[in-house]
Amino acid sequence: MDYFNYQPNGQLWAEDIALTELAERYGTPLYVYSRATLERHWNAFDQAVIDHPHLICYAVKANSNIGVLNVLARLGSGFDIVSQGELERVITAGGDPAKVVFSGVGKTAVEMKRALELGIKCFNVESEPELERLNQVASELGLVAPISLRINPDVDAQTHPYISTGLRDNKFGIFFERAVEVYRLAHSLPNLNVVGMDCHIGSQLTNIDPFIDATDRLLALIDTLKAEGIVIKHLDVGGGLGVTYNEEQPPLPSEYASALLARLGEHSDLELIFEPGRAIAANAGVLLTRVEFLKHTDYKNFAIVDAAMNDLIRPTLYQAWQNIVPVVPREGEAKTYDLVGPICETGDFIGKDRELCLAPGDLLAVRSAGAYGFVMSSNYNTRTRAAEIMVDGNTAHVVREREKLAELWQSEHLLP
Ligand code: LLP
Repeated sequence: MDYFNYQPNGQLWAEDIALTELAERYGTPLYVYSRATLERHWNAFDQAVIDHPHLICYAVKANSNIGVLNVLARLGSGFDIVSQGELERVITAGGDPAKVVFSGVGKTAVEMKRALELGIKCFNVESEPELERLNQVASELGLVAPISLRINPDVDAQTHPYISTGLRDNKFGIFFERAVEVYRLAHSLPNLNVVGMDCHIGSQLTNIDPFIDATDRLLALIDTLKAEGIVIKHLDVGGGLGVTYNEEQPPLPSEYASALLARLGEHSDLELIFEPGRAIAANAGVLLTRVEFLKHTDYKNFAIVDAAMNDLIRPTLYQAWQNIVPVVPREGEAKTYDLVGPICETGDFIGKDRELCLAPGDLLAVRSAGAYGFVMSSNYNTRTRAAEIMVDGNTAHVVREREKLAELWQSEHLLP
């Protein structure tokens, strides 16, 4: 559930503010987030495991705006990061480094050093060379690095191939068959402290079964390690819980968590870590865009809007379907439109074959744009990136200003 609703006057609002008002005040394209929705989604995870030792580590990559991170930090959230950049954002936003887990296959020595100095909760290590590097960096600092190994359980997450990460041919994690051997190596390195086990099998999962299969495999591995004297204190099940873009019916966090808890059996003292990104942020944001022109032809109708693939690349990159709705629905005959942006690429579309009744100047809201929206935007075609607004009740906060044109080339140079 979210707080973007049509009001009795027929117009779409974000919490207690009309989206038309925000578009007029801040221009379009415009990302609008709802604080109440972010909080509701985060709390849904937290409450789902409230009676069990746990930490919700929001996956920063989904939406890394410091305003968003600050809202979650105030709830006591942990954070899953994949770069020093994300780590610095968390710190800037008031996040607690002791609640940070560091994922990713390519951590540099510089990134490791910074994370060690800040005292993060855990490094989610993805390979043996990474173990060796981390041990080296920690020993140079005279510190011990807390580590988890990301295990690739080889389960099919049944999602889009680009966002499926738990299969044998993905670059992520350590193959299940080699896990014990790699844990032995980690255990033997003097500047590492084995504390956890993690996995992340993919994103936008709408079925619980792959999560449960992966968890069962990891719990068996935790038992094997225990017999060797390697004690795992936390199990990090990653992110991946899907959301409703169209008609998907993903499990609720409470359903997902109770299915997981039911598998724990003797592992009831195992701390559970979740790394949700999309499930918290996607439906807490919309992208507002205005219709510039309508182009009706015998073959097809196009609505040329002012948002483009540089603002929201999910439709182009993953053929992702996102709901596009009028902010002020109008009476009249609907036509079938492709909604396209101004970028010079055939792949520049936000939605295809949508039944809408439109006129130039109309305002549209692209739903579910709070995750993997702004963060994946670019300056392609020398377009400035959109502004971001956080609505909190009847107040709107600018959490990122619209980029200005001159900023785009301020770090570039003419030849002497
Ligand atoms: N943890 C790890 C280690 C991850 O790699 C990811 C996402 C997450 C957590 C968060 O997953 P979530 O709860 O958001 O599904 N750009 C794509 C999604 C890429 C996800 C990458 N990893 C999209 O727009 O669909």
